[in-house]
This record gives sequence, C-alpha cells and structure tokens, in this order.
Amino acid sequence: MPTQNLPVEPCILVIFGASGDLTARKLVPAMYEMAKAGLLPSNTRILGVSRRPKSDDEWRAELEPWARKHNADLDESVWRDVASRIHYHAADATTADGMEAVARRIEDLDSQANTRGNVLFFLSVASSLYEPIVERIDAAGLVVEGKRWCSLDPTNASWQRIIVEKPFGEDDQTARALNRTLGRAFEEEAIYRIDHYLAKEIVQSLLVFRFANVLWEPVWNQQFIDHVQISAVETVGVGQRTAFYDQTGAIRDMIQSHLFQVLAFVAMEPPTDYTPHHVRNEKVKVTDAICPTPLDRVAEFCALGQYGPDGTGDPGYAASEGVAAGSTTETFAALQLHFENWRWAGTPFYLRSGKRLAEKRTEVVVQFKPPAANLFRKLPILADAKSLEPNRLVFSIAPDENLSLRFEAKRPGFGIRIDPLEMVAALDRNGDEPVVEAYGPLIIDAMRGDQTLFKSRIEVESAWDAVMPFLNDASAAARSGIRDNYAPGSWGPESARALLARHGRRWYEEDRGT
Ligand SMILES: NC(=O)c1ccc[n+]([C@@H]2O[C@H](COP(=O)([O-])OP(=O)(O)OC[C@H]3O[C@@H](n4cnc5c(N)ncnc54)[C@H](OP(=O)(O)O)[C@@H]3O)[C@@H](O)[C@H]2O)c1
Repeated sequence: MPTQNLPVEPCILVIFGASGDLTARKLVPAMYEMAKAGLLPSNTRILGVSRRPKSDDEWRAELEPWARKHNADLDESVWRDVASRIHYHAADATTADGMEAVARRIEDLDSQANTRGNVLFFLSVASSLYEPIVERIDAAGLVVEGKRWCSLDPTNASWQRIIVEKPFGEDDQTARALNRTLGRAFEEEAIYRIDHYLAKEIVQSLLVFRFANVLWEPVWNQQFIDHVQISAVETVGVGQRTAFYDQTGAIRDMIQSHLFQVLAFVAMEPPTDYTPHHVRNEKVKVTDAICPTPLDRVAEFCALGQYGPDGTGDPGYAASEGVAAGSTTETFAALQLHFENWRWAGTPFYLRSGKRLAEKRTEVVVQFKPPAANLFRKLPILADAKSLEPNRLVFSIAPDENLSLRFEAKRPGFGIRIDPLEMVAALDRNGDEPVVEAYGPLIIDAMRGDQTLFKSRIEVESAWDAVMPFLNDASAAARSGIRDNYAPGSWGPESARALLARHGRRWYEEDRGT
C-alpha cells in the first residue's frame, strides 16, 4: 500500500536530549509547524527527557522563544495547544532507574491521551549515548511486539519506532556495532535513520524529474553521461566547532552522510513504485555497486585540503584553537567514485564538500557527452570555432532552487553559427506554500510508518565501506602536505582541479568562468 495514504497515528514522541540545541532549535518548532498544518493528531504527546531537573511548565517556557524565533507569525492558539501537549521528565537515560522512570511516565501519558501504546523515540543526544540508551529502552521492556506485516489486525497493533540522528557511526565498524545494538531492540522496519537533507524539496524533485518524464531516462546512463558532480560547498569556516570538527572532517560530516543520499537519487534505477520498500531497495543497490577504491592509489581518486589563514585575523584551520597539532583532518574533500554496474560503468561521480570556499552552493551537475559526430565541422565559418559544447543539466539546491539545461543553438543571422544557450526553470515557484523545517515532515513520516526517505542498515554500511579508503591509513599520501593547501575564498586545493583535469574535465565553476 502506498504509505503516503497511511494515516498519521497518534503516539508519544519521546525526545532523549530534551535540553539540547537540536530539540529547541529544530524539533519542537517543527512539531508546531506540523500542528499548524493540521498534520499532528490532537492526542499526540511530546515527552522530553534529559538530566537537568525542570517541570513541564519550565520546559514549555524554555521552548517558546525558539518557536517564536522560528515562526515570526506564531499562531498563539496553535502554540498553546502544542505546548499543552509537551511534557518533561528529568532522567539519566543511560541508567536502569532513569529509563524505568521514563517508562512509567510514558505509560501515564499513554493512558491519559489514548495513544494506544505507540511510541516514537528520537535520539537527540551525543552519538556516544545512542547504544547505551537503546540498550536501556530494550531492557525496560519499552519495545513490545511491533506492527509486523503479519499482524492479525495491523491497524490494531501498537508500534514502537526509533529515529536516530546523524552521525550514524564514526566509521564502518562503529556503524555496524550501532546497527547491531539497534537490531537487538527494534525490527529494521522500526528504525528510522534520519537525514534531514533528504527533505529538501529539490532532492525529492530529482525523483520526479527523472521518473515522471520520458525524456531523461533513455539518456541517463554511461552511454550519454560523461560524469556527474555533486557539490555542497560553503564560505564559512569551522568557527567554534573545532574540537568536534577535528574528529570529523568533511568526508564524515557531509559526504558519507548527505551527499551519498543525493548520489543515490541521481544514480538509482527506477523503483517499481514510490513506496519505502522499492525506493530503499534501489538506493541500496547504488551504494552497493560503488567500486572499492584501490588502497595503494587513494591519492589518485581524491583531493583533500585545509584552508589557510585569510590575512585578516583568521589563522586558518590548522592554527585554530582546538585543532590538534599536526591534524590532517580535511576541511575540503573531493572524491572520485566509480560504479560497477551496467548503467554507470565508466562514468565517474565526483562528490565535493568544503569550507571557506568562494561561494555557498549545493548542486548536482550532470555533464553529458558530446554528440557522436559533429555534422558542422567542415563549415568554413566554424573552422576556427571550438567543438560543440556538450549538454549539461544543473540542479541547483542552494542558494536558488532551479534547474538549468545547456544546449547548443543556432545564432540568428546569416550562415550557421552555434552558441550554447542556458534554459533555467525555477523550482521554488510556489510562493504560497509555507517553508517548513525539514524535520517536521520526516517525523510525520515516521508516525505514518513511511521509511522512504530514511536510510536502511545496508545503505549506511555500504556508504561507510565506500569512504573508508579516504579516511583510514590508505589516505596518508593524500593527506601529506594538507596544511594550508588552499586559500580562503578559493575553490579548494590545486589537487581538486587536477583530479578532473587529468581526465580532461573541469569543475562547473571553471566551465562557467567564475
Ligand atoms: N544541533 C544540530 O543542529 C544537529 C544537527 C544534526 C545532527 N545533530 C545531532 O543530534 C544530536 C543532538 O545534538 P545537540 O546539538 O542537540 O546536542 P546537545 O546540545 O549536546 O544536547 C544533547 C542533550 O542531551 C542531554 N543528555 C546528555 N546526557 C544525557 C543522558 N545520559 N540522558 C538524557 N539526556 C542526556 C543533555 O541535557 P542534560 O544536560 O539536561 O542531560 C544535552 O543538552 C547529536 O548527536 C548531534 O550530532 C545535531
């Protein structure tokens, strides 16, 4: 059954990490927006759990300014209604006593609100606490028989699901360990590995663009596409987050998580239909088909960098407070990935992310091959002209949401002169639709039992497998000399340009001439 049609079932949303930044800044404002949109069932309850003691009212008062900050025209009656359904429980969720007290509170709220035993857990704590908390949830008996496909009456069974925030592991091993811990407590159908990046309109519109049109699918393969660039680059530096970032770097922070999701939607086969099972199966096949990068040649397949000083006070990444001496953590990474499958064999995908670069941009660039033959090559008027420009499709995700297609056209006038034209379609065209926080629709999906936009266990693990050569000792050669190897405001280290240039390719901005 298409899960879009499934009802949003009331539940108790239990947020571990209630005192934290994510809860106040994103999660609770997102639930207000869902209530305002009429999507949150009236008997849904939110139970925040963290260690600091406070009452329900104190927590509501703490959250209100964040809801107002997020929604300049806060609807007072909707907020009052949502606030009345917000509760707080002070507990250390990693202890048996703490979790048993949480279980009693859930039971009370469930009987008051008639949420029929449905519980949606949200792990919004430091990732080191994910496993201890999941083990406590399990030990406290909070996960009863889930809503299995084989239930006698699936509409009448309670469910318990869990949303897990990024980072999902620090490497292949820790991700597998976390998956095993989750799997001991929850069925895979009850585990929602969130990536709020996926709720971005344009990422979903990639699917519609590819599969609701007849034009693209016949040319969406290695026969017609030369290469694909997926970039998420920004102008800001690491700021105050040096201690966190120095343990993380661009590959873990952006590429393994967010950019792999975009990659999956660009490269996947057409799913049978838009249901979680079919979409997720196709996404898994994409990451599964990535060729392992040869460990003795990693430097040929990537460019890594750290931004240097800017001459106006920023000492550069390596000299920033909180960065370990001699750190080789990358603030810029460009990876070249290849697929071993029929659709993409021989067509590289370049994934790039970096800080303190020339522009803030997130985009997918699909570079087609040139036409098989140039019919105009012998015209005298073209004798000194360069060869035909291949078609290029650009999905711009940020700052503008649009789609642009470059194609060759005849310049009006005598004879044949050919110039590239750029056709641009704005995708953020519905100004009446309110812009909502990405978390809201995803939490509603979890309440509906729709896993389409959440990552599966195998997808996460194979994404880690694909990036490990760029993170472990095999990447030492690519990391040597990384310090200050690109200037703030540039497009990254020289090795990034060379990564494409050695195959006769250029990054989109070089092509645009910016
Ligand atoms: N912030 C973001 O925008 C963002 C974006 C993407 C992903 N994430 C991820 O989301 C998670 C939460 O991020 P955050 O920025 O909100 O972290 P945070 O500000 O550090 O908040 C985590 C909260 O967890 C509570 N906590 C700590 N130990 C606990 C325990 N044993 N039992 C119950 N509660 C405990 C703490 O409150 P008490 O001191 O009161 O216990 C703390 O305020 C992290 O894994 C982060 O990587 C965050």
